[in-house]
Amino acid sequence: MTSPELLERIRLHGQIPRHVAIIMDGNGRWAKQRSLPRAAGHKKGMTAVRESVEGALDAGIEILTLFAFSTENWQRPRSEVLALMGLLRRYVAKETRKLKEQDCEVHVLGDLDALDQSTRESVEYMTSETAGGMAMRLNLMISYSGRAEILRACRKMMEQVASGELALEEFDEETFEGALFTEGLPDPDLLIRTSDEFRLSNFMLWQVAYTELHIASVLWPDFSREDLFRAVLDYQERDRRFGRVTVG
Ligand code: IPE
Ligand code: IPE
Ligand code: MG
Repeated sequence: MTSPELLERIRLHGQIPRHVAIIMDGNGRWAKQRSLPRAAGHKKGMTAVRESVEGALDAGIEILTLFAFSTENWQRPRSEVLALMGLLRRYVAKETRKLKEQDCEVHVLGDLDALDQSTRESVEYMTSETAGGMAMRLNLMISYSGRAEILRACRKMMEQVASGELALEEFDEETFEGALFTEGLPDPDLLIRTSDEFRLSNFMLWQVAYTELHIASVLWPDFSREDLFRAVLDYQERDRRFGRVTVG
């Protein structure tokens, strides 16, 4: 099916997921299959990022969250980490204007203190340039892990309790969510992971409690907007019950 046909089917089906998150995986395998260095897979992965942003805009998805670099990924060889940081700066240089034209607001979520100064300044430039974009919010999760995010939120709230700013009784799901990086955002409706891996790898552990999962066999560098549309169609077939019983 072509891209317009898939989009038409999505529209006929109804319910578009408001928030789609993607674990972009398989760059290294893509490169290995071609006897190329891993960095070549990461570089090609940038075209898949553009594909997914364009596809999400076409489908009317409000929030797209991309897992770009995990806390654990810092333990990869230094050369690979440097290559990934370089690509991130390149992404900012290449895509900021386009994202702004497309009215996308970019947020970079994670432990940004761990980034080197020039990469941090670069992502800050992208977030300030695109601030206020109304068409879609793009979250780039960088130096991010779900457990670290949960601990950070706990620490924040414990400090507020200790200082008397927050009463212990007010420490509930709602206030806790306000202390997460995803403050104010709905949880992902759909989580896609590419390259046939059936695990979360420390991604958005709190937020995915009731998220629908879609595992795609395509390696991330080959991911196209059609793959995104197929994932949305799969999502539209799901019966989301949230622990309750479906009536009728
Ligand atoms: C995903 O591709 C990109 C990052 C995690 C930064 P990988 O680099 O994990 O590729 P594989 O899983 O080794 O194929
Ligand atoms: C998850 O992929 C992290 C990102 C996509 C950024 P990994 O390749 O790091 O995860 P594992 O090692 O296969 O679990
Ligand atoms: Mg991987």
